[in-house]
Amino acid sequence: MGVMVGIDLGTTFSAVAVVDRSGRPEIVPNREGQRITPSVVFFQGDAALVGAVAKRSAAVAPLDTVQFVKRAMGDPAWRFETSSGLQFRPEEISAVILRRLKEDAEEFLGEQVTDAVITVPAYFDDSARRATQDAGTIAGLTVHRVLNEPTAAALAYGAGRPTVGTVLVYDLGGGTFDVTVMRIADGDFETLGTTGDRNLGGFEWDNALMRLINERFRSAGGSDLLDDDRTEADLRDRAEWAKHALSMMPAARVVISAGGMSQTIEITRTDFEDVTSHLVSRTRDLAEMLIEDIGLVWSDIDRVLLAGGSTRMPAVRSMVATMSRRVAESAVNPDEIVALGAAVQARVLAADSNGDVRPEVNGTPITVRDVTSQGLGTLAQIEGTTRLENVVIVPPNTRIPAAGTNLFQTVVDNQTNLRVQVTQGDDHDADYVKVIGERTLTIPPYDAGAMVSVSFAYDFDQTVSIEVTDLTANRPLGTFEVSDVANMTPAEKDDATHKIRALEVS
Ligand SMILES: Nc1ncnc2c1ncn2[C@@H]1O[C@H](COP(=O)(O)OP(=O)(O)OP(=O)(O)O)[C@@H](O)[C@H]1O
Ligand SMILES: [Mg+2]
Repeated sequence: MGVMVGIDLGTTFSAVAVVDRSGRPEIVPNREGQRITPSVVFFQGDAALVGAVAKRSAAVAPLDTVQFVKRAMGDPAWRFETSSGLQFRPEEISAVILRRLKEDAEEFLGEQVTDAVITVPAYFDDSARRATQDAGTIAGLTVHRVLNEPTAAALAYGAGRPTVGTVLVYDLGGGTFDVTVMRIADGDFETLGTTGDRNLGGFEWDNALMRLINERFRSAGGSDLLDDDRTEADLRDRAEWAKHALSMMPAARVVISAGGMSQTIEITRTDFEDVTSHLVSRTRDLAEMLIEDIGLVWSDIDRVLLAGGSTRMPAVRSMVATMSRRVAESAVNPDEIVALGAAVQARVLAADSNGDVRPEVNGTPITVRDVTSQGLGTLAQIEGTTRLENVVIVPPNTRIPAAGTNLFQTVVDNQTNLRVQVTQGDDHDADYVKVIGERTLTIPPYDAGAMVSVSFAYDFDQTVSIEVTDLTANRPLGTFEVSDVANMTPAEKDDATHKIRALEVS
């Protein structure tokens, strides 16, 4: 085994970290000497460029540049097609990014990087987690754990300073929002609850600012910048720059040139905060809901920890301070903390597999206990109707490994097929949950009302195993795993591995 690193595969930026000889996690800089690498890929024929240069190409070659691919992870239908006709799945694009991160780390460390812990938003569903793991495999990495990002942030924090207490991690990145409450007792890290939104991040703030700038440009007589891929990509660039500037200054100016017209547009921080206040409120509502759901009140929270680059926005900081009545801790760089925590977890797993003693905090070996972020259940027919309702079998915030069983009855006489649809979500209404896998099993032709049990087991790898038992004959009807049903087949993964290996990545 070579080195096991921790990787934060972000929507907008990725980072790699490793625990050094003194036991401290350290960021591994990329080949350009940068501590974070833009998660952007630019294709030029058979060559793929990753990082800062690729990001700059977005405005000149928008059709060959792909970014925010993390948003598409777990979507089986999504493809990126280059202008030369090459097609890529989200797993493959992520694998290109991972390959670059791996090679940069190898160059810096002077050793082979073969193994990794990769982080994911806590609110990622099973298929997105599986897709992340597959991306690692395609990039030539053995992925030992897909770790929740807020948990990683807490690990980085707690591994550096002995902590006892309840910590709320507010993680607002480029593409996702997670809020997690953890109990930390030196080396013991226990998640009490987590929630979030996988489509809420700096990207949404950029979009709101882009709309505002576009409106102002148009009311000054300019063309619609969102009508053209190139002007849109250029606008995105300028909006992001202005957003960063507004974190430090009360106003920012952007110069927009399009359709033969050039215009200087001034945006004040108040303007920006007006068009994004609903986004800040949404994160507040999710945090308040979580505290309530796990039966706590704000005075139970000892510390608030900020993670994610978007927590640099003053409006976010002041909202968090008002909501929690606490000054949030931001001792560690918010866009590096997740990778640092992943490195700590990697060190723990490497110690386990080498038979070494685990690293400790204040004499307590580091142990991480996480929870499910979304409910798992199955659809059942409501008696006397043809309507389906969702029955949650493993509720959200259940400690992993998690298990649960529920009993069901057949609804018609001589029913020989039993369709088991596995769902993710908490709602009773079938329309508000996602079916993540299904199997049709055969049962003997009983009268209606025959009892069947459905048991779920959810393990550290986020694999859902389902076992269905015929309680009349007391015999198993079948078992299956959701990972069998979703995402890529082993053969597709093999093909993808060859395809990505054949690319020239730089
Ligand atoms: N000074 C700043 N002011 C405002 N926003 C900032 C600042 N610095 C970084 N950001 C924003 O933070 C985001 C990047 O943060 P980070 O690297 O933590 O996200 P990520 O890991 O790529 O995303 P995710 O964790 O959601 O997958 C971007 O949207 C970026 O514009
Ligand atoms: Mg992140």
